[in-house]
Amino acid sequence: MESLTLRASPSSTASPLLRLPGRRRAASVRVSASGAGAGAGEPDLSVTVNGLKMPNPFVIGSGPPGTNYTVMKRAFDEGWGGVIAKTVSLDAGKVINVTPRYARLRADPNGSTKSPIIGWQNIELISDRPLETMLNEFKQLKKEYPDRILIGSIMEEYNKAAWHELIERVEESGVDALEINFSCPHGMPERKMGAAVGQDCALLEEVSGWINEKATVPVWSKMTPNITDITQPSRIALKSGSEGIAAINTIMSVMGIDLKTLRPEPCVEGYSTPGGYSARAVHPIALAKVMQIARLIKEEFPEGGRSLSAIGGVETGNDAAEFILLGADTVQVCTGVMMHGYGLVKKLCTELQDFMRMHDFSSIEDFRGASLPYFTTHTDLVQRQKEAIKQRKAIRMGLQSDKDWTGDGFVKETESMVSN
Ligand SMILES: Cc1cc2nc3c(=O)[nH]c(=O)nc-3n(C[C@H](O)[C@H](O)[C@H](O)COP(=O)(O)O)c2cc1C
Repeated sequence: MESLTLRASPSSTASPLLRLPGRRRAASVRVSASGAGAGAGEPDLSVTVNGLKMPNPFVIGSGPPGTNYTVMKRAFDEGWGGVIAKTVSLDAGKVINVTPRYARLRADPNGSTKSPIIGWQNIELISDRPLETMLNEFKQLKKEYPDRILIGSIMEEYNKAAWHELIERVEESGVDALEINFSCPHGMPERKMGAAVGQDCALLEEVSGWINEKATVPVWSKMTPNITDITQPSRIALKSGSEGIAAINTIMSVMGIDLKTLRPEPCVEGYSTPGGYSARAVHPIALAKVMQIARLIKEEFPEGGRSLSAIGGVETGNDAAEFILLGADTVQVCTGVMMHGYGLVKKLCTELQDFMRMHDFSSIEDFRGASLPYFTTHTDLVQRQKEAIKQRKAIRMGLQSDKDWTGDGFVKETESMVSN
């Protein structure tokens, strides 16, 4: 069953490879809709985004679940729609991680280990594996899974030649698209990497220009939420030629202070540094950011061809449905996989299909963006409420039928029908 019928682009199969001028066609990919969640007569979860065809909209978000060949292979085997590898750079030798680098927040105020994890902080850097090793693994994966979508996540220093070299080498490995990490919240800001670029619109414009003049596969720019207005860098990335926006990366956080030792967490040799917050607790914040970007794309890029990959706190099909209702084309999951494993995709697909069945939606395009028009300004809410109250009062005025007259309220009922 062919999906994506309502939106001419970027998902239309009639014009499947929406390219910005000069960008080569995305690798031709054929994926049967028989991946996780698809079946005869079932709601169709398949999506085609910037020419990338996936059996379902669920994509592994860049992070530990995309660190090496073994885990990415596992993701494909379990049925994920696509995989975004852990962010790579030219010189992994500069990336030095510490341990512990994660800290968790539980729902129980006293932190009972029986209560569910709702928040996750990490101070992890990008991949510390040699670029050549990662590229060989990308090549191997594309050889074994030619029809599956593998996206390379990249980050570099403020240096045009370095960006160009990285893009060329990662593209050569056969990836289907690139996600640009303009959003890593910790580590290396002094080298103008990650969020240091995403938080500085002038820098972002320049670096985006370098990237988009070089890249020949679709480019998704991944945004940081650690900025006042996420639409500003998103607009610049799209105007510079990026086909898509991915949002959000983690939110700057300090997980807590150990009240016995008085040291912050996660504690490395007695010290800590602010990290990035993810998992269920960030979902409402991610929804707001995704809503803002979806409106930007709809209002300022009506010609189509621009996509939105939503990220943040997804653990259920309903979480994903919310993102899609706001306008997301794909939904990424990172911490959810770290907590529940790669098999989570099956549950996500089943639950998303349950939601679709409830509303009689047969494809993702049937409901993508359906909730977006219901956001407005507070001033407009006040006006709408005034109008509604006026209308309700008008209905209360007068009797609809002679059977409605009452003995006790007779005089008031008469009054309600007098015009002066
Ligand atoms: C341990 C960890 C490492 C991460 N590493 C990367 C990374 O290398 N590149 C990147 O773009 N995002 C990275 N992220 C951010 C995630 O891709 C994602 O944007 C964020 O965690 C929010 O989604 P989630 O709630 O599904 O995890 C990382 C997240 C975690 C938890």
